[in-house]
Amino acid sequence: MRWRITTLKEVSSTQTAARVLAESGSAEGTVVVAEAQTEGWGRRGRRWYSPPGGLYMTAVLRPRNGAGLIPLMAGVAVAETVRTTAGVEAELKWPNDILIGGRKVGGILAESAWSGKEAVYALLGIGVNLNNRLPPVLHEATTLSAETGREIDPQRFLAVLLEKLDQGLRLLETEPGRVLEAWRRLSSTLGHRVEVVVESGEAVRVVAVDIDPDGALVLEIGDGRRRVVSGSLRETLLLSSEADRLI
Ligand code: BTN
Repeated sequence: MRWRITTLKEVSSTQTAARVLAESGSAEGTVVVAEAQTEGWGRRGRRWYSPPGGLYMTAVLRPRNGAGLIPLMAGVAVAETVRTTAGVEAELKWPNDILIGGRKVGGILAESAWSGKEAVYALLGIGVNLNNRLPPVLHEATTLSAETGREIDPQRFLAVLLEKLDQGLRLLETEPGRVLEAWRRLSSTLGHRVEVVVESGEAVRVVAVDIDPDGALVLEIGDGRRRVVSGSLRETLLLSSEADRLI
């Protein structure tokens, strides 16, 4: 992958800026990085707090074999980058959270534009708390500098991350099973009880046992297994037996 990086001092959201570029035909590998975002957002429309000191980037991808596993691959890439650059072990919480010691240090926001059943492009947004401060309200979050007691070099973090993403994208084309294996190894979700709201509206605590080849989370409910394709753990999850994509 030839990454073409545009760095901005401040932008509303790198996701919006990258979408404009993707719509106007920018090549796969176009990356928008911002030092700060004024309107960064995360999954489920939540605000993504984006002051200077964090990493905020969106890559334009043009996937040929479906985009479903891109978010899981990206989570693995971020966790490996955290280990390489900061020497800290990160864990992955399904679907897209990167945690250190149970606290969120980064997140992935993947969006796709479809033409029929084909993804015309995907926007892979990644936010990682590096040296930025966090407001007290985000007490369940952490930063890499808080975890290590030192400043993290954002340029190096980005360079390592793009290399890991490059490797991950290639693996998705040739051996997607290895991406899933890496995700399982880093998972803080599998083998643990998670809270799920089932169709009746009832909240039940069930064990997350696996992820399917398409990235769906597999739960053990009663004497059967159910797949979850979207949602967040400890919140409402959407259960479906025939759902076909994660993003
Ligand atoms: C989440 O955990 O909910 C995902 C957070 C993703 C945040 C990143 S920061 C770069 C890109 N631009 C945005 O507005 N969001 C993503």
